[in-house]
Amino acid sequence: MRAIYPGSFDPATEGHLDVARRGAGLFDELVVAIGINPSKTGRFPVIDRVRVLESALHDLFNVSVATFSGLLVTYCRDNEIDLILRGVRNKSDHRNEVPMAHMNRHLSGIDSLFLPATAETVFVSSTVVMSTGDDK
Ligand code: PNS
Repeated sequence: MRAIYPGSFDPATEGHLDVARRGAGLFDELVVAIGINPSKTGRFPVIDRVRVLESALHDLFNVSVATFSGLLVTYCRDNEIDLILRGVRNKSDHRNEVPMAHMNRHLSGIDSLFLPATAETVFVSSTVVMSTGDDK
């Protein structure tokens, strides 16, 4: 099975990498895909986000890093993706993810699988990572 792990990864956190590593063990192939929203300026340039993911995941033979813009399900169709993988940390993530999963399935028939964050990474977010130097 060929799965996709989409996200902004702006920046990638230990939590993201953990989900990617666990996903790599579940599927034949995993594409970690950075969604590009042209109307939104990210914190980090996309090329840097790609490099961080490639470097952190280079040891996993069945993982590749890609970018996409537009609808995720269009990318999935074009790239023969069977399943969407997302990490969930808490109720708020779950509340946001379920409608997205319903919409993606409605549009494409492609299902989503949620992996719970580990206890070690559950409190880590890109926003928290970015705020850790604020008071220095
Ligand atoms: O890490 P994020 O910011 O939670 O990732 C969100 C992402 C990129 C997975 C989501 O915004 C997405 O899939 N964007 C592509 C546009 C799309 O397909 N939207 C419809 C989803 S219902």
